Amino acid sequence: MNAISRLATVISLASLLPLSAFPLSTLAADSKGSVEVVHWWTSGGEKAAVDVLKAQVEKDGFTWKDGAVAGGGGATAMTVLKSRAVAGNPPGVAQIKGPDIQEWASTGLLDTDVLKDAAKTEKWDSLLDKKVSDTVKYEGDYVAVPVNIHRVNWLWINPEVFKKAGIEKAPTTLQEFYAAGDKLKAAGFIALAHGGQPWQDSTVFEAVVLSVMGVDGYKKALVDLDNGALTGPEMVKALTELKKVATYMDADGKGQDWNLEAAKVINGKAGMQIMGDWAKSEWTAAKKVAGKDYECVAFPGTDKAFTYNIDSLAVFKQKDKGTAAAQQDIAKIVLGENFQKVFSINKGSIPVRIDMLSDMGKYGFDSCAQTAAKDFLADAKSGGLQPSMAHNMATTLAVQGAFFDVVTNFINDPKADPAIAAKQLGTAVKAAK
Ligand code: BGC
Repeated sequence: MNAISRLATVISLASLLPLSAFPLSTLAADSKGSVEVVHWWTSGGEKAAVDVLKAQVEKDGFTWKDGAVAGGGGATAMTVLKSRAVAGNPPGVAQIKGPDIQEWASTGLLDTDVLKDAAKTEKWDSLLDKKVSDTVKYEGDYVAVPVNIHRVNWLWINPEVFKKAGIEKAPTTLQEFYAAGDKLKAAGFIALAHGGQPWQDSTVFEAVVLSVMGVDGYKKALVDLDNGALTGPEMVKALTELKKVATYMDADGKGQDWNLEAAKVINGKAGMQIMGDWAKSEWTAAKKVAGKDYECVAFPGTDKAFTYNIDSLAVFKQKDKGTAAAQQDIAKIVLGENFQKVFSINKGSIPVRIDMLSDMGKYGFDSCAQTAAKDFLADAKSGGLQPSMAHNMATTLAVQGAFFDVVTNFINDPKADPAIAAKQLGTAVKAAK
């Protein structure tokens, strides 16, 4: 059974339960309507960003019911969302990404009408890159509003720590990365801050695949799921390098949240972290300045590529008119110029609006965001713009789960063999497709 029919089967049980069995949320007497928003923005920096949206929704007269589900990468939030849907009680709005938006829409639970007017009057089709709008449309209708764009293939560096360890510059090749890691270790620092949760392991894995196999190899293996690319010699090489990268990972990082690992780099205990630019939200929350207190560089060997991750808020069908009005309000706010600026500055991302991407300086974005926007536009032309597998943009959750299992086992098994792991990748992905 493929992923779509799997989700559809589970969700169809929802129709057995009456929607009316669920209480409407408590509504303030003067509220225009209430909306629950399920998301996983719970770190300090992420919360500062989502609070911008909440404040505006409330200012517009609606009641915001916060459905935050802790857990970086969103796996727990997605589990909660599925069980809510099965129980016939989906929220009005939920953070869902990539191909999963299509999967959810095919269950019939997403609303294909409620965003129509906003999309037309606000001219979403011309504000967004086609790659972005295609992701959030189902059969031509918007079922979600894209919020921001994250780049995943970043390396975050504490320059002060680098200096103390005698490292002169940011690594641009894997060899330089290993040399920097050795110096950091020798000087008593954690070389690579890393939380050993499956999504974080695969965030590193995909960066290494991109570095070793290049854009074409990345696309073949992680986007097209080509069996030859998944099991071939280049993948074996990538896995060999991944094992080496893993030797620099924080020994206390098992099961650790990404933001606690980011804090180790911010506080000068660790030298580097491989993480998408939501990591910047933690630096910003700690009042650190890009280019001065920290450096952001493309993961070694990937500067001509941009693995993208688009956060989107999907709208679920609701009976209540007030909730529909709140959904429309959220959609309008999200694509507004001011929100796009303030949210992304807090979140570490870049706007989804193409008019803003080509003029980042005007909005006061820092050097990391300016580089990201410049690279996004250049890589969109060159083909270097590729969806992130680890962040649900390239595949369904089922296929992503297959990658996560093999990659995390491989990193943790001291006897793991790259050639065997590559074969396992091929088999696991095939079974999950
Ligand atoms: C999301 C980000 C979030 C990060 C950590 C990513 O998958 O796209 O918005 O900040 O996970 O939770």
